[in-house]
Amino acid sequence: MKSELLMVIKDLSVHYPKRSAIHHLSLELKENDAYTILGPSGCGKTTLLYAIAELLPKAATIEGTRLATRPLKKSLVLQDYGLFPWKTVLENVLLPLKLEGKKSSQSRESAMHLLKHLGLEGHLEDYPPTLSGGQKQRVALARSWAMNPDLLLMDEPFSALDAMTRERLQEDVLNFYKSTSLTMVTVTHSIEEAVFLGRHVIVMNTEGSLVKMITNKSFGMEDARESDLFFEQCIELRKLLKEVSK
Ligand SMILES: Nc1ncnc2c1ncn2[C@@H]1O[C@H](COP(=O)(O)OP(=O)(O)OP(=O)(O)O)[C@@H](O)[C@H]1O
Ligand SMILES: [Mg+2]
Repeated sequence: MKSELLMVIKDLSVHYPKRSAIHHLSLELKENDAYTILGPSGCGKTTLLYAIAELLPKAATIEGTRLATRPLKKSLVLQDYGLFPWKTVLENVLLPLKLEGKKSSQSRESAMHLLKHLGLEGHLEDYPPTLSGGQKQRVALARSWAMNPDLLLMDEPFSALDAMTRERLQEDVLNFYKSTSLTMVTVTHSIEEAVFLGRHVIVMNTEGSLVKMITNKSFGMEDARESDLFFEQCIELRKLLKEVSK
């Protein structure tokens, strides 16, 4: 794992016309690292993710600085999948590559490989409305991975899925992360997901400030979910979240 800095966020505050969402938040993201963001509903997790993606709406006023140490290719996976219903599964995955002007035969091959890896080889010509929630989310993941991003940003990517599908996709994401050199940031409401997918767990409070960034020792361990370290980490975070949600 490299430990160079990827992005430095200093004293960031974000104000929407009627209310503020982030308050004086400072954070450093490192190369090839994994972060998860936990915090009460409405505390500003999505706002922070959009600030990192540089996708905040025009109406938002931003104070403080966000500096990437190099030009970054970012990919964002949203809760509602963001698929085009009138394009097939394969076309959805190929779209960002097409927009980048990549050679179509190569792109097709890598897209098919990813879709096969995610168990979607039988659905290449299907349209998203005919897929289940878990299948749609896998298409959205394949699309974001096919771009080969430096920074993978995910906003509650698995919240609509049943427990087993969710765990399988979390494992797919972790294996993908391990096979690349990207940095990933995942927003979640689930403590277990935060501990499974984050080497560092960022905890925010209702005021939109960073309370603590916990380094999670169980991250990436073989059978992490069954380990004592994993349970201890979940208990510590549950206590902290209770405190900040008061
Ligand atoms: N586009 C917007 N315009 C105005 N206010 C907004 C906008 N987006 C978010 N907000 C407000 O900013 C605050 C933080 O919202 P945000 O979506 O970042 O929270 P969140 O932590 O992601 O919440 P949740 O866990 O429910 O998804 C909320 O009070 C919300 O109403
Ligand atoms: Mg949100």
